[in-house]
Amino acid sequence: MSRLLRDLVLTSLASLLTALPACASTPAQRGLIVFQQVCAACHGMDHVDYGDMAAFGLSPDAIRTWAADQQIPNGTDDNGAPKTRAATPADPILSPYPNDAVGRLANHGLLPPDLSRLAMTLHGGPAQIQRILLSYAPTPAGVKLDDGRYYNTALKWKHIGMPPPLQDGMLTYPDGTKATTTQMATDVSAFLNDVAHPHAAERRRIGVYVLTYLALMAILTFLLQRRIWKSRP
Ligand code: HEC
Repeated sequence: MSRLLRDLVLTSLASLLTALPACASTPAQRGLIVFQQVCAACHGMDHVDYGDMAAFGLSPDAIRTWAADQQIPNGTDDNGAPKTRAATPADPILSPYPNDAVGRLANHGLLPPDLSRLAMTLHGGPAQIQRILLSYAPTPAGVKLDDGRYYNTALKWKHIGMPPPLQDGMLTYPDGTKATTTQMATDVSAFLNDVAHPHAAERRRIGVYVLTYLALMAILTFLLQRRIWKSRP
């Protein structure tokens, strides 16, 4: 019996230890930096609020500053002209363009899609996002692309209307990780995957609590069992 309990304690502790690194979502935290400094110039994430970025390690101050930097629509004035105001942490991360027409105009007729659920809706998921970011190549001889189209082997039709967004060393990660194109593509895909599955991080966190609880209970039961049996003649 005590052997069984010992095994239980050991397996609980082992699963606890393997679950812990899942909490330290550093790739996703770095991915947020990539989104902020690169992708947000063209893409919004309107299903998530600035405040939600606390889950990726952004401090309340940093969230406030980021939000306050963005102007969002705020009704119309007395003459019917649209008004704007600074965003707050409770506002969604809207597209940087005031409307789709302006977004298309700025991108050779193609609208940068909202990124909040793309990792879930795009065929191939986060791996395909990463692949797109890493599959730009020089246009081969004999292939003619329209203005504002870029050769990219990740897509069936081999081109995309997004200029290659990532370049080695274009930003500095606070944790010292080298910002290579591959690193940033991996990080931002991890980030977009977490954003698209808002409850996944929460589930992982709860999972760790449950495992901790089970491990402690197993230890207590083990000790109790030994005590009871020791006091028996
Ligand atoms: C200069 C503007 C610009 C920047 C910066 C930019 N994008 Fe894009 N992106 C676009 C446009 C425009 C499209 C639509 C292209 C098309 O339909 O061919 C697009 C499309 C995409 C797609 C393909 C979506 C699909 O449905 O096939 C992904 C994935 C994507 N962007 C991710 C990113 C990520 C991640 C970043 C930041 C690293 C980023 N983009 C930065 C303009 C941009």
